[in-house]
Order: sequence, then C-alpha cells, then structure tokens
Amino acid sequence: MTDLLLTGIGRLVTNSGPPLPEAAVAMENGRITYAGTAGDAPSQGSGRHIDCQGRAVIPGFVDAHTHLVFAGDRADEFTHRLAGADYTGGGILSTVAATRAASEDDLFREAAGRARRMIAAGTTTVEVKTGYGLELEAEQKLLRVAHRLAKELPIGVRTTFLGAHTIPPEFQQDSDGYIDSIVEEMLPAVAPDSDYCDVFVEEGAFTVDQARRVLEAAATHGLSARVHAEQLSHSGGARLAAELGAASADHLDRATEDDADALAGAGVSAVLTPGASYSLRKPQAPGPMLLDHGVTVALATDCNPGTAYFESMGLVISLACVLMGLTVDQAVFAATRGGALSLGLDDHGILEPGAVGDVVILDAPSETHLAYRPATNLVWKTIKAGVVVVAANA
Ligand code: NIG
Ligand code: FE
Repeated sequence: MTDLLLTGIGRLVTNSGPPLPEAAVAMENGRITYAGTAGDAPSQGSGRHIDCQGRAVIPGFVDAHTHLVFAGDRADEFTHRLAGADYTGGGILSTVAATRAASEDDLFREAAGRARRMIAAGTTTVEVKTGYGLELEAEQKLLRVAHRLAKELPIGVRTTFLGAHTIPPEFQQDSDGYIDSIVEEMLPAVAPDSDYCDVFVEEGAFTVDQARRVLEAAATHGLSARVHAEQLSHSGGARLAAELGAASADHLDRATEDDADALAGAGVSAVLTPGASYSLRKPQAPGPMLLDHGVTVALATDCNPGTAYFESMGLVISLACVLMGLTVDQAVFAATRGGALSLGLDDHGILEPGAVGDVVILDAPSETHLAYRPATNLVWKTIKAGVVVVAANA
C-alpha cells in the first residue's frame, strides 16, 4: 500500500540510470517502491499524493563531511583573512575553548539550528565530526549532541571521532603524548558511539605516522577511517588513507595523480569540500582529475566555523561546477550517491525500489538550476524516509 505518491515529476534523477522525463515515485514504510515513468506508477490508494507540477526530483543530499557541533563563530578570523592573513589551523583552538565552555544544551541548540537549515536546503543525511573538545569528556559531549540531533530532527546522522583534529593546549609540547591519550584513553571510550575515526594530517596538526597509530588503533575498535588529507599542503594523508583502506580521504586540494591512482586502487572515496577552498581563497581540489582516475567523488559542506561556515549543498554543487569544473551530473551525483557511498550507506542517495525514501522536490524544472541559481534555496519539499519534513521554502 503506497503511503506517498509523487506524480507530475518533470525530471527525475534516480542515480540508477539516466534522468527521466514525466516520472513518478512511490514510497511505502519509508522506502521507495517505485521510481520511473509515470505510466507504470502504482495507484495512490489511501496514501498521500503530491502533484509536483513539472518540478525536478532528486535524492536527498548526503553531506559526508561536517564539523556541525561547535560553539561561537570565527568571523574575526575571516575578516583577517580577507585582509590577507593565511589560514594555519591555529584558530581551531579558539573554537575548542568556546566549545568546552558551552553547555550541552547550548551546543545542541546551535547545532540543531544549523541542521534545520540543512534539512530545509535538502540534506537528509549528515556526517558529524567531533574535534572541538580534544579531551575525553568534551569529545563525548559532542558525540551526545550529534546523536541527539538524529533523535530529535528528521535527519540521518553518522558520527566521526576527530580527537586528532589539532594538538590541545594541555599537550602543546608533547603531541605524541596526546596521541597516547587518544589511543589508550579516548578511543576505547568513544568507539561505541562513533562510526568512524578521522585525523587531520597537516603541518601543525598530525604527521602521517601519528595518524597511522590513531587509525590502526581505531580499527581494532571497529571504526573505519576518514582522513583530512592534502588540504593545505601535500602531507601524505591520501597515501595513508589508501594504505589503510580508509572509507574516505577528504579535502584533497593538493592531491596529485599518484594520490588519485592510490585512492582508486584502494577503493577510497574522495570527499571534496569546495566551500572550504572558496572561503580560504585557495585553488579548488582537482575533482575532474580524481574522476578521470576512477575515484568515487563525494561533495560536502565541511560546515565549520573556521574554513567553511556552509550549510547548503546546493551552493556546494554550484561551487563544484563553476570553480572546480565538475559537470552538473557529476556534482549532483557526488552530493547524493557519492556521499552515501563514502559513508557505506548503500541504500541512500539512489531512488530505486528498496532504497530509503529520502527525496527532494526542487522548485525548478531541472537539477541544473542548483548550480545556476546558487543563492536561492530551490528546495520545494524535503522528504525524509517517506515523510514530508519541509513543506515549502519556495
Ligand atoms: O575541515 N582542516 C581542519 N579542519 C577543518 C577546519 C576546522 C576549523 O578551522 O575550525 C576543515 O577545514
Ligand atoms: Fe573538515
């Protein structure tokens, strides 16, 4: 029995074949039962019916890289960058201080505001990293907030422990001592509440060898790896991700063709963050080159207060097309199916029978409008697991 039937779809992006004109989608118990040409659609029955009146329909966005839970902002740092200052990652510690000092309820309120705006902009699943606690109790506070988002808001959440985001004040002269504490104290305690473990491999953050220690220990607790790799300099994070069979290597602004071959060979997804490169006024990651080498590419907001205070995947798609050189098809796939694949969510980011009913109706005739009209929220309705959760922005 169909619970929700979408008809009058002018263009349907399924990610399981080419876009279809004049299509319909049916959902039952939160899952897709039909996605195809209008003529063969099941009947409505007693369920809800929405006439899309020629609008385009795409899978919900899967935002595979965010630092969503933090307190405060860093507008001052942004202003300094506009005046010519370079980003070194040092500002992370000011967010750590604000986040440690914030109550769990305040952190939830701030993160929930961002998550609600993401949902309104079509995101149905989000990966959330810790990394602004950098001590066990504060990191656990961030994980609890992330899980509370999934409980109280209509959004899927995957969690990543990023204890190795930067060196906390307590260990400024002893980064190996901090790695010891991550491996011995933090990982065993946070692993039950985390899906992944991430390390920022960068000058001023952590070396490849330190990252290997953390990620190998994480694997013994059942956590797969994601790696902040080749963002500001070429530091070897991508090769490490390939060596460890990580789920993803992220950022990759400085990735080389050899890195691309290694990632493709090891089946590691590339999660690209054009908003961070844009806000840092740096060249974009080589998305077309990674695709040419056979790497699975995902796009993400990287939502964080330092390098990318971004919530809209539509805007990310536009940057990926205009500044990075992806086609609209590649960018929309990367923002939906690509993100899902990088998170091991095989039944997300695709509209076919059996997949989750995470669907976005755009108030536009095609997905090209996402790239073409970047400052407008083009989401008409967001549907999470077969339920309309955003009725109309437009
Ligand atoms: O993904 N690169 C490190 N982490 C974040 C920035 C965090 C911050 O500046 O607060 C990023 O860009
Ligand atoms: Fe990041």
